[in-house]
Amino acid sequence: MDRPSGKDKPLFTPGPLTTSATVKEAMLSDLGSRDTAFIGAVREIRAGLLLLAGVSQESGWEAVLMQGSGTFSVESVLSSSLPEDGALLVARNGAYGARIASIARCHGVPVVEVVASEGEPVDPAAVEAAIREHPELTHLAVVHCETTSGVLNPVEEVGAIAHAHGLTYFVDSMSAFGAVPIDLEACHVDFLVSSANKCIEGVPGFGFALCRRAALDACEGRARSVSLDLYAQWAGLEANGQFRFTPPTHSLLAFHRALRELDEEGGVAGRQARYQVNHARILDGIKALGLSPYVPEEHQCWIITSVRYPESEAFSFEELYDRLNERGYVIYPGKVTDADCFRIGNIGRLFEEDMDALLVALGEVLREMGVEESIA
Ligand SMILES: Cc1ncc(COP(=O)(O)O)c(C=O)c1O
Repeated sequence: MDRPSGKDKPLFTPGPLTTSATVKEAMLSDLGSRDTAFIGAVREIRAGLLLLAGVSQESGWEAVLMQGSGTFSVESVLSSSLPEDGALLVARNGAYGARIASIARCHGVPVVEVVASEGEPVDPAAVEAAIREHPELTHLAVVHCETTSGVLNPVEEVGAIAHAHGLTYFVDSMSAFGAVPIDLEACHVDFLVSSANKCIEGVPGFGFALCRRAALDACEGRARSVSLDLYAQWAGLEANGQFRFTPPTHSLLAFHRALRELDEEGGVAGRQARYQVNHARILDGIKALGLSPYVPEEHQCWIITSVRYPESEAFSFEELYDRLNERGYVIYPGKVTDADCFRIGNIGRLFEEDMDALLVALGEVLREMGVEESIA
């Protein structure tokens, strides 16, 4: 298995991530957007994504690639799928769910929100109650792993409710797809979005939507944006294998390689196993240092861990960040709004020895700062 090139600091973040040397090397080619090798790679990526999700074109699914970061793909689905008279229910428990609501509002879509606290999953019963109260709703959106905190949401239960009420169901699986299993049919998903530089371990540059064909067909003529028109993007890719506008060629070549490496690791199950080991190390390690995770263990996904600031006068996140950075480790600030936390991501080309090395450095830094004594 390729390790990251020794030059770069390991990124304990939710993306951009540490990638393998071979994924980076795959970018050392300048291919034209009409080049047959490039078009072949795009075709294989689209088929590979469907395969990874356990679906196919024959079973009624399509993979649409969209330039930009993951948010562009979220916006593409929302702005292309909601009809003029549509209304969106967002079940949310963090910043990325809130972003879905603000994107929809920006496009003039009426939004109803069901809000759970950031350390808890969204509540299917509250979702059902909101649907009963708002017969105007046509679409329902939820985030799979809420990267704000690290909480895993009950996408299957919520999907069953969407299906029972005839709502189109959208899952933002940005930080989960590829390492957290999801059965699109069992969850009644219509659109799932993720991006190149999360659990599939590519580099940034594009996102993708896995679309139930019937739901995608319904998008024709509905788009509220030209560049983010999901249906037109799909129709273009189908017609000649090309993107409508300049594609992120290097990023796509890296992703093509990354999909192969995911397959070699054992697909979703293999990647999940490595990330779960990484995550368990982080959880045990922070507890051994006297730190506490923000999310209760039963709600925690194996992607990222929010760690509460230690209750010590001597603690400052900026100082912790800088001292770890000087030692060669990059962690991430917190994002929950009701507690002071920092985050440690464990996705990307990182292994248990990388987690152990970070934890040693974290212990040293807390001691240097005079924090460890006060929390031990
Ligand atoms: C769940 C989720 N949704 C959306 C996004 C936004 O993705 P991007 O920053 O690539 O636009 C992220 C980024 O981490 C995320 O974790």
